[in-house]
Amino acid sequence: MQAGVPRDLLEAALSVAGNAYAPYSNFRVAAAVRDERGRIYPGVNVENSSYGLTVCAERAAVFNAVAHGARKIREVLVLALDSDEPIPPCGACLQVLSEFGDENLVIHMVSWRTGRVKTSTLGRLLPSRFSLGGRSKE
Ligand code: THU
Repeated sequence: MQAGVPRDLLEAALSVAGNAYAPYSNFRVAAAVRDERGRIYPGVNVENSSYGLTVCAERAAVFNAVAHGARKIREVLVLALDSDEPIPPCGACLQVLSEFGDENLVIHMVSWRTGRVKTSTLGRLLPSRFSLGGRSKE
């Protein structure tokens, strides 16, 4: 099961998966990112009764990493707890990932129910990112 998926990223996502807060959709997601220092940070989706305020697991993981000093994300794992198929990050999360990763950022997608895995890259899933051309990100 989950052949080819980095075990440390999967374990990090699993370590927080039980904390996913998804009482409205019942669609729990956990994620883990690896930064340029090799450090791993997890996140879960956090929903809100004002639905639009929901934050996806991927963004929660990225924000967790940045809060701890990460500035480059090299690899992401998305663990869908309630889906038979692996799920890609949504468009908003891809854009957020693009702030801290290049086109080679590896994205692993795993269904916990079935063990199905897909692997892609940020460049393939988000061929064009929005950026404020010429302006510093620092
Ligand atoms: N969700 C994620 O956390 N990551 C994804 O890649 C797709 C969707 C969450 C948002 C919401 O809490 C629930 O899944 C249903 O959309």
